[in-house]
Amino acid sequence: MTIQTIATTPFAGQRPGTSGLRKKVTEFQQPGYLENFVEAIFLTLGDCAGRTLVLGGDGRYFNRQAIQTILRMAAAHGVAKILVGRGGILSTPAVSCVIRKHGAFGGIVLSASHNPGGPDGDFGIKYNIGNGGPAPEKITEAIFAHTKALSSYRISDAGPVDLDAIGTSRIEDMQVEVIDPVADYAELMGRLFDFDAIRALFASGFTMRFDGMSAVSGPYAKAIIEGMLGAPAGTVVNAEPREDFGGHHPDPNPVNAAELIALMDGPDAPDFGAASDGDGDRNMIVGRKLAVSPSDSLAIIAANATVAPGYRAGIKGIARSMPTSQAADRVAAALGVSCFETPTGWKYFGNLLDAGLATLCGEESYGTGSDHIREKDGVWAVLFWLNLLAASGKSVNQIVEEHWARFGRNYYSRHDYEAVDAGAAEAMMQALRDQLDTLAGRQFGDFRVQQADDFAYTDPVDKSVSSRQGIRIVMTDGSRIVLRLSGTGTEGATVRLYLERYEADASRHGLATQEALAPLIDIAEQVSQLKQRTGREQPSVVT
Ligand code: G1P
Ligand code: ZN
Repeated sequence: MTIQTIATTPFAGQRPGTSGLRKKVTEFQQPGYLENFVEAIFLTLGDCAGRTLVLGGDGRYFNRQAIQTILRMAAAHGVAKILVGRGGILSTPAVSCVIRKHGAFGGIVLSASHNPGGPDGDFGIKYNIGNGGPAPEKITEAIFAHTKALSSYRISDAGPVDLDAIGTSRIEDMQVEVIDPVADYAELMGRLFDFDAIRALFASGFTMRFDGMSAVSGPYAKAIIEGMLGAPAGTVVNAEPREDFGGHHPDPNPVNAAELIALMDGPDAPDFGAASDGDGDRNMIVGRKLAVSPSDSLAIIAANATVAPGYRAGIKGIARSMPTSQAADRVAAALGVSCFETPTGWKYFGNLLDAGLATLCGEESYGTGSDHIREKDGVWAVLFWLNLLAASGKSVNQIVEEHWARFGRNYYSRHDYEAVDAGAAEAMMQALRDQLDTLAGRQFGDFRVQQADDFAYTDPVDKSVSSRQGIRIVMTDGSRIVLRLSGTGTEGATVRLYLERYEADASRHGLATQEALAPLIDIAEQVSQLKQRTGREQPSVVT
């Protein structure tokens, strides 16, 4: 075994996006492409002597190969110990949990989240810091700077490690420990939630379907929901992680989890439906004929936090990404706690959680989580809902309707225009920025614009400023139109249009969402000329 120094040249475009570096598998398969990015991570980390890292991924195509490469590079950079999930598997929340529990210096997560997998799909890599959360921008920018200036990388020529057997081996001076990917995470969940109450709920005949979408959450859900909580075998479906996610698009929303939605809409619907994404950090909560909007789910979890033992003392605050609906703000106000509005991406929650300013966080993109780790957490959200259902004895629908009756309903939807021409999308955003100053005070039908801006965020803890985070057009009644470009897409540009309308009157809570939002959809088109500029008549996905 020797450490080699291999000559390389920089690849363009290795700047981490909303959630790490995401590219087509074929791009990652170019010789040196993965190695360069990993070298840039290690150069950013500096001296790794004595340090422990965590490594794992969502099991998608190229996961195992990437893990072997990263192990050999970690050894070449003097890492003391690396904890790797058996089979190369660790969900994103499990990486966060393991980093924190074992006091690791950081971790490397291999995932492109909900993006499709397989040889023609996507792959991704991101670095998480010692608090278990995604690296903040100053680190991702330092990694990017290194990728532009590389001339070599270091790697051991050791043979592959057996990833399928729990146990310890060595590469150079580095200890490699293959760990059970579920154990630490399951133990943490057992401390946060009332497992006895949930067991009693299942014992009473309560029925559920959890759709693992052939991605990483399956083994976690099976071990916890069927194994520890006693749900009947078969409650968790599509539970085996597959390299191509069985052809599924592993994004838990009504469009991509259509099978689950059909079941929940039909005559044989179980009491509760749930799904998670490629790397296990997203969740969808479904009642009979009702997919709960993620923004509502955050608000409902916040309003009921104290039912779960881990949150009995109450919550310190709530944080939501800017495009997420303002439903949680109303709960925060009622509880007398702060509500923070951050840019899109989980990394912005880390400082708030570390500083004890927020306990719960959420994004409209099916992401919910808390200060138990520093990533959003799909199975956690599902367990929270199970705890709530068990404690209240109510159905999902009852809980949601009672929440709206108390706080009002924030009708909410996101329209995605995927893989549009990047230049056209940029031009549309620029044209929006150019008219921001003229929008305030303008009347559009029943709506009057109160404020229009390009969202900028100053982190209350480290005072770092993130600008150009999305165009907000806020109406005097609190309704909003938000437009931004995706930072995770891998093809052209994806325009996201977010729409929100508040309705206090419970007699008007039964409208179809798109119908309730129709006037705002028209205004968005009028202001942005989205259709004409992108050449698209319809959004690619509506959630
Ligand atoms: C999307 C979501 C965002 C989420 C991110 C990673 O990012 O919108 O909320 O944090 O995926 O899961 P976007 O593509 O919009 O930049
Ligand atoms: Zn994800």
